[in-house]
Amino acid sequence: MSATHKPKILFIGYGHLAKSLISKKLLSLAIIHTLNSKNVIKNINLKKKVLKSNSFYNYIFLLIRPNTFLNLGNKFQKYLYKDTLVISCMAGVKLSTIERSLKTKKIVRIMPNVMALNNKSQTHIYVKNKNLINIELKKILSSFGTIINVRNEDQINFATSVFGSGPAFIAYIVNIFVKASKKLAKPYNMNEKDIIELFKNVLDTNKSSKMLDAFVNSISSKKGTTHAGVNYIKSQKIEKIIYTTLYKAYKRAKEIDSEQKKSKA
Ligand SMILES: NC(=O)c1ccc[n+]([C@@H]2O[C@H](COP(=O)([O-])OP(=O)(O)OC[C@H]3O[C@@H](n4cnc5c(N)ncnc54)[C@H](OP(=O)(O)O)[C@@H]3O)[C@@H](O)[C@H]2O)c1
Repeated sequence: MSATHKPKILFIGYGHLAKSLISKKLLSLAIIHTLNSKNVIKNINLKKKVLKSNSFYNYIFLLIRPNTFLNLGNKFQKYLYKDTLVISCMAGVKLSTIERSLKTKKIVRIMPNVMALNNKSQTHIYVKNKNLINIELKKILSSFGTIINVRNEDQINFATSVFGSGPAFIAYIVNIFVKASKKLAKPYNMNEKDIIELFKNVLDTNKSSKMLDAFVNSISSKKGTTHAGVNYIKSQKIEKIIYTTLYKAYKRAKEIDSEQKKSKA
């Protein structure tokens, strides 16, 4: 694709998620401008400031925090042209709220995650009008990783909990295991790389919930060491803890949109 035919994209917000979406692949597909809280626009491909911002943008990615959008959303109308497609990555903010704020119906909601950094985001997409998703947009979103289409807007809230926040929950749980293992074997300086490798190995061996169940049973022989540990972990209601963790993130995603109505009331 030659530079002149590349679509132009504006990232409104250039924080943690936005930075993870930028890859060589994305920069080869599109010209990326970013806008920050000081109204500075940068051209990421050319690594320089854009002094006059009168660009037509084919796509605008909303990468600001939900409360920033709920308070200042309509100030971003000025970056939209008739054919600009808005792609919201924000948790919780409904399509109808974005429509009202930006005065456009050309909106797609997506839920990527920071794993896009390694082209491993499992990006969920929700759109009312399927015609908005063209081949060019699919290519752009595929630069983040894989794409999962959802039919109902509430599925984006579940994706926000499991795939948006999930990487942090998983990292936290893995790290607890790493720290506990090191504490247990303190005199012998257990190598944390080996423990993290253990997680990868278990997942490489087991590719479904059924296989994981069978795996646990196959190494939990009665009165053995695994049995002693598994019995304890089950007695501590770990299932409830994990379910509630995910539910709290989902519930929070559902609350966000109504916060604007409350603050305006
Ligand atoms: N982080 C994740 O893993 C993740 C995953 C899925 C979805 N999301 C969603 O992605 C969005 C961004 O999250 P984040 O973690 O990347 O947040 P973040 O790191 O706090 O980044 C927010 C960005 O918004 C910019 N900003 C603030 N006010 C602005 C304004 N008035 N105009 C233009 N830019 C403004 C900030 O600019 P300055 O740098 O100048 O302060 C900053 O670059 C959120 O809506 C979140 O729900 C995040």
